[in-house]
Amino acid sequence: MLNLKNISQSYLQGDSIINVLSKLNFSVNGVKNIGVIGPSGSGKSTFLNILGMIETPTSGEYILKGNNCLNLSQNLKTEIRKKFIGYIFQNNQLLEDFNVLENIAFPLILNGESFGDAKKKSLTLLSKLGLTNKKFIKPGLLSGGEQQRIAIARALIKNPILLLADEPTGSLDKNNSSLVMDLILSLAKTNNTVSIIATHNLEIIKRLDICYKIEKGKLIEI
Ligand SMILES: Nc1ncnc2c1ncn2[C@@H]1O[C@H](COP(=O)(O)OP(=O)(O)OP(=O)(O)O)[C@@H](O)[C@H]1O
Ligand SMILES: [Mg+2]
Repeated sequence: MLNLKNISQSYLQGDSIINVLSKLNFSVNGVKNIGVIGPSGSGKSTFLNILGMIETPTSGEYILKGNNCLNLSQNLKTEIRKKFIGYIFQNNQLLEDFNVLENIAFPLILNGESFGDAKKKSLTLLSKLGLTNKKFIKPGLLSGGEQQRIAIARALIKNPILLLADEPTGSLDKNNSSLVMDLILSLAKTNNTVSIIATHNLEIIKRLDICYKIEKGKLIEI
């Protein structure tokens, strides 16, 4: 379904070029729940951003359902992201001008669903996450863990084919982490979603099918 070949990513930092990913290969071979670990700065977010078509790598191939996607227009990449990819960002990236309910409903509205239907689905997810009482509140007034759960709901609501989660439980306690993982893992069963999760949390890694470590710009199965 998804295949990355010889992906390299370099950045200019001041006067020097740093090579974060170096001829990295990755493929999803029927496995649904995939972990990525590695120390801070090793390239986990970079890897997820490339998977999510948010960043274009310096070189390599990105093959999704048999199509090489790196040369697609920005518009087509945006369409693919909107329809198929759910992204939980490391820093949540909620929209401050909208309330919780609207934030979660947003991806469905972008995909053409009516606000009524999007609202119903948002409320169902909010209730599963124990946040129904926050539905009309602006994200800035929520705690870090509450904001993180809203960002998770926003990524899950469209039942994405590919879910990219960048430290999705970094601000959550044990019970909420486990609840969020229940929701993510159930998507694999009900929707065939492939989830790729960057995390430092051992409890999460234990529940995944396979885990890779980023080392010297490559993925090593652990
Ligand atoms: N746009 C950019 N421009 C320059 N350098 C960048 C850019 N994005 C990432 N980097 C550098 O790439 C390296 C990897 O960053 P990345 O955010 O992928 O690490 P990470 O493994 O997600 O770390 P953390 O666990 O702290 O989130 C870092 O050294 C970072 O400074
Ligand atoms: Mg990161």
